[in-house]
Amino acid sequence: MKNNRIGLKLGLVISGLFLVVLLFLGVAVDRMFTSFYYANMRTETEELASHFSVMAESSEGDTMGMMGTFAEFSGVGIYNVRRDGNVMMHSGVQDPGCLSFIRASDVDAIYSGQKVSYLYKDPAGGRYFVSGEPVVKEGKVVSALYIMASTERMDRSLAGVRKLLILSGIGAFLLALGSTWIIAQFLSRPLLQMQKATRKIAAGELETRVDIGSKDEMGALAGAINDLAVDLQRYRDSRQEFFANISHELRTPITYLEGYANVVKERLYETDEEKDRYLDIIYMEARRIQHLVDDLFELAKMEEGKISLEPEWVDLAELTEQAVEKTKLKAGNKSLELQFTVQGTPEPMYTDGARMEQIVLNLLENAIRYTERGTVNVRLSFQPGAVKLAVQDTGIGIPADELPFIFERFYRVEKSRSRSHGGTGLGLSIVHKLTGLLGGKITVASRLGEGTCFELHFELEPEPREEHL
Ligand SMILES: Nc1ncnc2c1ncn2[C@@H]1O[C@H](COP(=O)(O)OP(=O)(O)OP(=O)(O)O)[C@@H](O)[C@H]1O
Ligand SMILES: [Mg+2]
Repeated sequence: MKNNRIGLKLGLVISGLFLVVLLFLGVAVDRMFTSFYYANMRTETEELASHFSVMAESSEGDTMGMMGTFAEFSGVGIYNVRRDGNVMMHSGVQDPGCLSFIRASDVDAIYSGQKVSYLYKDPAGGRYFVSGEPVVKEGKVVSALYIMASTERMDRSLAGVRKLLILSGIGAFLLALGSTWIIAQFLSRPLLQMQKATRKIAAGELETRVDIGSKDEMGALAGAINDLAVDLQRYRDSRQEFFANISHELRTPITYLEGYANVVKERLYETDEEKDRYLDIIYMEARRIQHLVDDLFELAKMEEGKISLEPEWVDLAELTEQAVEKTKLKAGNKSLELQFTVQGTPEPMYTDGARMEQIVLNLLENAIRYTERGTVNVRLSFQPGAVKLAVQDTGIGIPADELPFIFERFYRVEKSRSRSHGGTGLGLSIVHKLTGLLGGKITVASRLGEGTCFELHFELEPEPREEHL
């Protein structure tokens, strides 16, 4: 039961609620019956009183004896009371033992022609309905006739009704308790199942899945837990892969650094040129690590959403031209032709200029790095409300089956070939993330041995016109 707390709580709440409702209902029904029986008995007694008073009024001969028989037959008591309160005649079955039910004020009222009726409780605890009527002869009230009926029979009937009410209440309560228990089981079982599964997932068993097929909220919760497990699994795998990649990326340059630094330290070189060559290698590898650390830092910031953009109105044509200028030297070193063309009417773009330049430079550097001869073509084309930037090269290209992965972290086509080019495989994943952050899309098309073309698409916001007052 310890694990079944929700069932217990639910059971308690519903049973409590049922109990309260049943109690109120029971009291209400009991009241209803009681007042019904009382009203009934009151009218009956009053009717009897009128009946007997009419009999007394027309009394001749042995009316009193007849009335006594009648009274006995109806199970009531008759009292004929004089003006001073003394009983002239008493007959019938009821005898409360004392006459305190005859109150002077009532006798006065009856003698002035009124009727009285009330509930009387004798000192022994017996309860009676009392009804008093005047007996009129020749227009004059001659006596007060009291009829006294015990409530015993009515109380017995009421007790029977009460017993029935209590029994059906207990029955209804037990039924509610049973059905609540079943509902609680029904509700808490999948919850317990999910609790177990989440505990397992938290303990690292990420392959755990909850098997609840229902289409209700429980099913939706189970689905959400399963999705969470899948996400965690993916996250764990990519994190493992990420760390493996980082350590692999760092190990190579560090091995170089260690080896060549040792050669220089132990003076294992023969000429000064040789020493300079080793120092150059050390310098290059140190820069490589720097580059890697910078890129990783940038990516981490982007993934945590900690990168803040500084948008402004940017002349994209000018920005791209400057980026092309910056890479001209590198292209020149490899005797590559670098072309830049603008199509359409240039429109300003509201974006983060520095980030945009980072994207263009990355694509340009890749194009130059992976092209041995030919041309790198940069085309900027403005259409109404949109702009497209294409960076096309005539380089080594990317195999079609590797194209879907090139935006992933550390992904490099043919590891050895890009290592000889000095890449770490982070550039394009940064480009991809930045493009997304700036609200654009990036696509790539490539043919192995023929060249590659990266295309950026951005929507252009209309520039707000300056208001003239
Ligand atoms: N223009 C291109 N032509 C051919 N292959 C390319 C081109 N651009 C990217 N690639 C391939 O995609 C891989 C990923 O590129 P990415 O820019 O992410 O990494 P990188 O250039 O190797 O290193 P980094 O840019 O981090 O210094 C590269 O290793 C390369 O194999
Ligand atoms: Mg690159």
